[in-house]
Amino acid sequence: MNAKSIGIDFYNLGFKFIETKMMFVSDYKDGEWDKGKLVPFGTLEISPAACALNYGQTIFEGMKALRAKNGDITLFRPGENAKRLNKSAERLLIPKYNPSKFIDALKAVVRANEEFIPPYDSGGALYIRPLLIGNGPMLGVAPAEEFKFIIFVSPVGPYFPEGFKAIDIEISKKYTRASQGGTGFTKMGGNYAGTMRPAKEAKNKGFAQILYLDSVHLEYINEVGAANFCAVIDGTLVTPKFTGTILEGITVKSVLELAEKKIGAKVEQRDISYKELFKENCTETFCTGTAAVITPIGSITMEEKTRVFNNHEPGKLTLNLYKLLTGIQRLEIEDEFGWTVCI
Ligand code: PLP
Ligand code: COI
Repeated sequence: MNAKSIGIDFYNLGFKFIETKMMFVSDYKDGEWDKGKLVPFGTLEISPAACALNYGQTIFEGMKALRAKNGDITLFRPGENAKRLNKSAERLLIPKYNPSKFIDALKAVVRANEEFIPPYDSGGALYIRPLLIGNGPMLGVAPAEEFKFIIFVSPVGPYFPEGFKAIDIEISKKYTRASQGGTGFTKMGGNYAGTMRPAKEAKNKGFAQILYLDSVHLEYINEVGAANFCAVIDGTLVTPKFTGTILEGITVKSVLELAEKKIGAKVEQRDISYKELFKENCTETFCTGTAAVITPIGSITMEEKTRVFNNHEPGKLTLNLYKLLTGIQRLEIEDEFGWTVCI
């Protein structure tokens, strides 16, 4: 099968769900996970009393399979996603999934949907969505006794329609996304449900996303929607500390390591006041994520004040990091870290 026969224009993909051929499903019953299997993509039957539907006991991961220039299919640090899934699982009293079985299942789903991987020169990817839900019925607020682990995939283009172009974002003092002691560090569904209205309001005003602040002081940077935030301040690459309210992004961790080890930049994880972003010594800002990759931020607005960065062009460090990260992910730059896995 080729792109034409499956009716997909890989060169004009956005970040929208497109149904593919196969998915992986594994069930947890009587205290253990079954072996799981590949099945044709389709709907699930689920009890209206499912814990996932009533109380949001759902977690997910997000990853990409890429087609390299030499035709290989690559995954990026899948072991990190396996670990993070289990960190989310622990917080939500969801049974953990074996990391090596997680990786085997990922590979099997990607191979089974190979014709949906966008070609190298399209810049697209096969987005992989591992999902773990408490599907057992539960009336009182307590964890389900039955769970389902699913992996489905969908071909995608850029997360932001702007692509690698700089986006405009707004700092919100009206909404926050996570608070200390809560679930901000997990990828649970509810964390995202709460950001839909704020994101819609921001989009209606012409912004691509919201930059959230901490919920106590409404001062320190948290995240940019579903992506981590980075800035270059006095030449140092800075990103907020992971203190439990921020998702520990695999992309941002990789970016910090690349900046330090491949570019020789100073890096620091610390509290960043939004006020610092409006000063001249803050020279670049960008956000990172599996979906967002590295997306430059062209302007940040708070109430009546707007700061524009580099005339809306990606900054020098931002661009270097983008080239390094995507080069490693697509096997074009030597991967001395052992991050990219060919399947
Ligand atoms: N922050 C949030 C809230 C996210 O949903 C994501 C995406 O997974 C990220 C940050 C970036 O994480 P990663 O780089 O692991 O994709
Ligand atoms: C990702 O970057 O993989 C994410 O999970 C973001 C997503 C919510 C679209």
